[in-house]
Amino acid sequence: MAGVIDQEPLPDLVDLAGRRTLVTGGGKGIGRAITTRLVEAGALVTIADFDPAAADAAREIGATFAACDITDPGQLTRAIETACGDDGTLDILVNNAGIFPTTGSMTEATDEFVHTMLDVNVRAQYSAAREAAKRMVSGACIINMASIAALGGGANISAYSASKAAVVALTRAFANELGPRGIRVNAIAPGVIDTPGVQAEMEALKRGGLDIDAVIAANPLRTAGQPDHVARAALFLACGLSSFVNGHVLVVDGGSRA
Ligand SMILES: NC(=O)c1ccc[n+]([C@@H]2O[C@H](COP(=O)([O-])OP(=O)(O)OC[C@H]3O[C@@H](n4cnc5c(N)ncnc54)[C@H](O)[C@@H]3O)[C@@H](O)[C@H]2O)c1
Repeated sequence: MAGVIDQEPLPDLVDLAGRRTLVTGGGKGIGRAITTRLVEAGALVTIADFDPAAADAAREIGATFAACDITDPGQLTRAIETACGDDGTLDILVNNAGIFPTTGSMTEATDEFVHTMLDVNVRAQYSAAREAAKRMVSGACIINMASIAALGGGANISAYSASKAAVVALTRAFANELGPRGIRVNAIAPGVIDTPGVQAEMEALKRGGLDIDAVIAANPLRTAGQPDHVARAALFLACGLSSFVNGHVLVVDGGSRA
């Protein structure tokens, strides 16, 4: 019967040895945790980040660093080329870099604010997927970082919610388009995850109407998610365990939307 697959042993399914990988925003938070897990699984990871401190993170983890603002097309292309193997191909893109500045009321969000949010979280992520896909062959995959904000709610974070809803839509569209080439495209939708980015915005988010502490207290697991919770999901989507998972949005939120 067509579609029968080999019963690969479990260690082989999670083995990413030699897989050429780019993680955007891998310098801290969720991206750093994902980089750590993918390196542990044997992947050859390049971190694309505009924070110079990400170079230290890369060294500690055993990754390569490419100084890169993902909104700059030239820097983005150079980072992707750094991640590619000698044959010019890329195996895994983790489209993680994103911003979540405090939105506050939609009556106060300026056009400039909305434009910046969409430029980083949607336009640059689209560019990264496009440039990566040009360099991918069958067996490669793309993992886009969405958010549960894409799936409902969204009061006081409207521009962010819209940007992440676009990431979900692009994930499904790309999965349909790249699937026939053997390239899988999936997304992760994290709930509240304790990262430097969230810590930096805690008070401002509260003033803008989003109390992160209250969101955590209401979680069925009564805890904030940690970056490694998301990294485990990313490892699943990157490896052979998920070989028939395509166009999926994997919610990693401790059940906050259950
Ligand atoms: N932390 C959460 O609760 C949460 C929840 C849902 C989704 N997310 C998404 O996960 C992703 C990572 O979030 P985080 O909390 O780890 O963020 P973070 O702010 O802790 O880390 C983000 C990293 O991305 C880098 N970065 C930001 N803009 C960049 C750019 N233009 N070019 C290159 N690098 C850039 C930063 O330097 C930093 O190293 C984002 O897309 C975010 O929207 C986070």
